[in-house]
Formats: sequence, C-alpha cells, structure tokens
Amino acid sequence: MSDRLATNNLEAFWMPFTANRQYKKAPRLLVSAEGMHYTAADGRRILDGTSGLWCVNAGHCRPKIVEAVRKQVGELDFAGTFQLGHPKAFECAAKLVSIAPPGFDHVFFTNSGSESVETALKIALAYHRVKGNASKVRLIGRERAYHGVNFGGTSVGGIPSNRKMFGTLVSGVDHIRHTHDLARNAYARGEPEHGAELADDLERLVALHDASTIAAVIVEPVACSTGVLIPPKGYLKRLAAICAKHDILLIFDEVITAFGRLGTPFGADYYDVSPDIITTAKGVTNGTIPMGAVFVKGKVYDAFMGGPDDVIELFHGYTYSGHPVACAAAIATLETYEEEGLLTRAAELAAYWEEGLHSLKGLPHIIDLRNIGLIGAVEFDPIPDAPGRRAHERFVEAFNQGLLVRATGDIIALSPPLIIDKRQIDQLFDIFSRVLKTVN
Ligand SMILES: Cc1ncc(COP(=O)(O)O)c(C=O)c1O
Repeated sequence: MSDRLATNNLEAFWMPFTANRQYKKAPRLLVSAEGMHYTAADGRRILDGTSGLWCVNAGHCRPKIVEAVRKQVGELDFAGTFQLGHPKAFECAAKLVSIAPPGFDHVFFTNSGSESVETALKIALAYHRVKGNASKVRLIGRERAYHGVNFGGTSVGGIPSNRKMFGTLVSGVDHIRHTHDLARNAYARGEPEHGAELADDLERLVALHDASTIAAVIVEPVACSTGVLIPPKGYLKRLAAICAKHDILLIFDEVITAFGRLGTPFGADYYDVSPDIITTAKGVTNGTIPMGAVFVKGKVYDAFMGGPDDVIELFHGYTYSGHPVACAAAIATLETYEEEGLLTRAAELAAYWEEGLHSLKGLPHIIDLRNIGLIGAVEFDPIPDAPGRRAHERFVEAFNQGLLVRATGDIIALSPPLIIDKRQIDQLFDIFSRVLKTVN
C-alpha cells in the first residue's frame, strides 16, 4: 500500500456498487492517467480496457480538455441557467445538436446518465399531457435494462438486484422481454441473427394496458451495463414501428452508445432508427466533468411552446444544468472527437477487435463471446451458488496483470477508449487470455 493511501482512512467512503469490506482489505487504487493507461498506486501501468466506466472515449487527460476546464474554472466558475444563461451553455448545446441524428435540435442539460433518464421520462409524460393525452402515463422498460439508479431509472430498469431492495418504485411501469438468447445466438459476431420478433412483446403490453395509457418505451440500443446484450437484427426497427403505430414515444438511452462507441456518432445512427428522445452522459465530456444531455426532437420541444410566452414551459432542471465548466469540457471534447475522427474510429477497428475477442474462444468457463463496435463481452458459466464470482475473480487478476476490465454478473465487458491502436488491442487480448488461463 502506498504512503498516500496509508494516511487515509478507507472506512469513511461508502463506495458505490462495491463490496466495501472485501475491497478495503485489498484496495485497488488509481492515482493518475494518460491516454490509454492508468497508473496504480504501486506505480504499475494499467491498460484501460473499459474507458474508465464507459466514459473516457478519447483517452485520459487529453490536453485540450484539461486546458479548457482550467481556463473556464478561472473565468466563470458558476452561473445558473434558470431564467439566466451564459454563452458556453448555448455554444455547447448548438455543437451537440450539430452532431446529433437528424431532427434532434434541442438539448436539456443534466449532470449524469441517471438524471438524463429521469429527465427523459418526465419530458415524455409531460409531452403527452401538453398534447392533451393525459391518460398516457405508463412507462415501459425492458428486462435486464440499466437506466441508472434514481427512482425512475430504477423502475424502468430490469436488473433484479438493482430493484429489489427499494420498495415499490414508480407505479405504472411494465417491462418487455430482454433479447439475450444464448441458445440461438451464442458466439454471434456483431448483431445476432435471431430475435427480431421479441420486439412484438411490446404489442403484448399494449394489449394488456391499452396504448391510450402508455407514454413511452425506453431501451438502450445496446444494453451495456447489464452485460452487453446486443439487439438482434431488425429488432430496434420493429420496436420503433410499434411505438409509432401507438403514439408511444421511443427513448433511446445512449449514455454509453452515444459519442462513437459503435462507430457512428450515436447508436440511433448505427441502427438507422429514429427515436423521439435520446439520453446521453459519460462521453459528452470524456468523463472529465460530470454532465448529461437529453436530446429531443422538434416535435417534442415544440409541443411545450404553445402557451403564453412568459410561463415556464417545463418545471424541471438542476442547479448544475449547463454548468460552465462542464460545458467547456464538452466543447473541448467534441472538438477532440472531431479533430481525431473518433466518432467513427470504432468502425475502422471493429473487425480487428472482433477477431481479437473471438480468439478467446475455448478458454476455460467461457460460454459466449459477443461484440459490436468497440464493445466486447465474455460470458462465463456461473459458479453454483456464487453468482458473479467467476467474473469478479478474473477482473481482479486482470487488474493484477495490468488490464482494467469491467465485471457485471458473470460477464466481463470490454470497451477501451476509441484511441486504442491495433498493437494495444493485441496487448489487451494477450493479457486477458493469460488471465483466463491463470484463474481456475
Ligand atoms: C444506459 C445507461 N443509462 C444510465 C446510466 C447511468 O449513468 P450515471 O451513472 O452517470 O448516472 C448508465 C451508466 O452506466 C447507463 O449505462
């Protein structure tokens, strides 16, 4: 343990999504970062196979972003955006809509993915209300989904352990089936062949609740945090068609898939599907400063603009919506993405990445490998009565061997910064195959 850590008390920090007691017995500490690497407290370089937490798309400590943050914090540290404004918020929003899919011409700022989800769900409910369809109050999520940790997102989310301790959650929520089907799709490369018909499960809920009560459906284009569930070919288009048929708003939760992860600026571009609302966070500032952005189409925004113009149209917002420092970070991030072609770079690397990932086939306990864009997942057979342990042990060993991966359930997810090169892809899979051979 470094001196730096020895002077600290690990107890005070109740760590999120962490086995606190286990972690604090053998902490893994990161003290600096640059480009593709972290440096651990013991001085080892750790190859970042997960872009931090799916957010550092341009790599770590990028000078342009760091400088923009430094400059902004000394110039205008804070200005609210309730009945007030500052230039960076408008510039940032305009820049964001310039790269968004067609029709997304407005942005609502938040501070995280969770807040983006709450914002999108509230906008969807209010949209139907202002349109005179006040009976449209139900929200539909999907089994196994992750939409952050606030009450709305937890409610439409579908990971049992994230839900079960927290009471009855938001009422009027239901879930369509998830799309994970190893019996038919194991070892799929890119989009799985089978399962487009699972979108029709939405028709089941429409029949049950009636379309006149359903406001919105929220899905992640690729459900990443739950363990990388890639939608079957044709699934998202079919889901969008059913939503359109019943006047149900489609929300794409792109907190991970936005900003180049699939090789296109947004997941909506990749799947050529046009939802009504898109939630983002993470990559919007390259993870440097907390920020989220909810993109809405003109049809949604305009629906709110009908009343007297001196009345607030949406009673929603955060103290830090459009925070100047976050906006400065986002602008510098978007410039970095543009200058380095990062929003499409995953498309160039996807085939090489896919080969590397699937070279792991046959190593102990693997039951599936799957990939899309610069995302990969390795699924293991669970240890009986110890769900998650198989992946956690491999995550720890990978860290010890100099590679950061992300364990979720019995799945290891991989999502390196989009600046990764082929040599580093080789290195990542070399280390990881060694890890898989080391741990029993
Ligand atoms: C799809 C999706 N939505 C929402 C969130 C929540 O984001 P945050 O942790 O910034 O609140 C995440 C985080 O991983 C996510 O993947």
